[in-house]
Amino acid sequence: MRVVYTGDVRSEQNADRDAAYRYIERIAPKDARRNEPLSRHTTLGVGGPADLWIKPRTVGAALDVLSFCQRESVPHMALGRGSNVLVSDSGWRGAVVNLSRCFRRYRPVAGGVTCGAGLSLPRLVRRLAGDGFSGLEWAGGIPGTVGGAVVVNAGAHGAEMSGVVKRIVAMVEGERRLLGKETIAFSYRAAEAPGIVLEVEFELNEAVPELAREKIEHLMSVRERTQPLSKRTAGCIFKNPPGDSAGRIIDSLGLKGVVAGAARVSELHANFIVNEDDATAADVFSLIRRVKERVRGETGVQLELEVELIGDFAQ
Ligand code: EPU
Repeated sequence: MRVVYTGDVRSEQNADRDAAYRYIERIAPKDARRNEPLSRHTTLGVGGPADLWIKPRTVGAALDVLSFCQRESVPHMALGRGSNVLVSDSGWRGAVVNLSRCFRRYRPVAGGVTCGAGLSLPRLVRRLAGDGFSGLEWAGGIPGTVGGAVVVNAGAHGAEMSGVVKRIVAMVEGERRLLGKETIAFSYRAAEAPGIVLEVEFELNEAVPELAREKIEHLMSVRERTQPLSKRTAGCIFKNPPGDSAGRIIDSLGLKGVVAGAARVSELHANFIVNEDDATAADVFSLIRRVKERVRGETGVQLELEVELIGDFAQ
């Protein structure tokens, strides 16, 4: 049965929003939940509810949901592991789509692989090593999805996604489009890719599996020594200022261990904030402000956020 949608979401009337959500619920029955706390879907474990949370089990349903949201201007976003975000306590008014159940295909192609945006990056990296591909070993410890890593141009150990992405398939203005790398404006920890990333083609070299695995293990052990990987965090909070490290600066001011509510500046790496015990987004945000102000006051450096803020924050 074809479901007909008759609302006008652009009017921003609650009744129209509700009609749009009901339409989506019928596209992906059993896979949509109202008022879903995003704290359950972020590595920091913080964040209020999204109006609608959808984790479609088929590619067709995911495409229909995204296409509908774009054609009808329903506020929507894709969220993978939620490992680089701070969601406000009041949550987010819109539809949040997770592609990890449907866009997870992995397929070797000439000179690399194509894979779904919902694939876990650490799992992809291990699989690539086993299949004799080199180029993404540095990403073995990044706890995100392929799509999330592309849209933030994730990086580590001197490499970043922009160096290996060849092209992407994205949902743009309600249609699936193949976009070459040149259409994505990559910069340090940011990428302006239009629409929602669905699939990514990586350009890779050949590797001896054993050597690729050794490289991954080595880089992971460096991370384990220097970053609080077993704690609830959102990775690095601030971008590194040109020529320096935010972690080094924050540490040099003696700010490791500083707390706001249940949020604490990590004792291991000062550019991480740890959710110690049911911290709120307000705790984390007030700690961010304190650190920023101290750094600006004492060094003149204006730190910029690396994590993405979702929802309302009193700036
Ligand atoms: N340092 C300190 N104290 C600290 C942390 C760091 O003195 O608390 C010093 C280190 O000793 C080192 C320098 O600062 O001399 C740089 O530290 P590190 O090698 O840990 O790298 P980083 O610049 O802090 C960057 C990325 C990380 C990435 C690592 C490893 C940014 C903002 N951070 O950190 O990315 O994992 O390099 O390649 O670009 C992330 O994107 O979320 C992230 C964590």
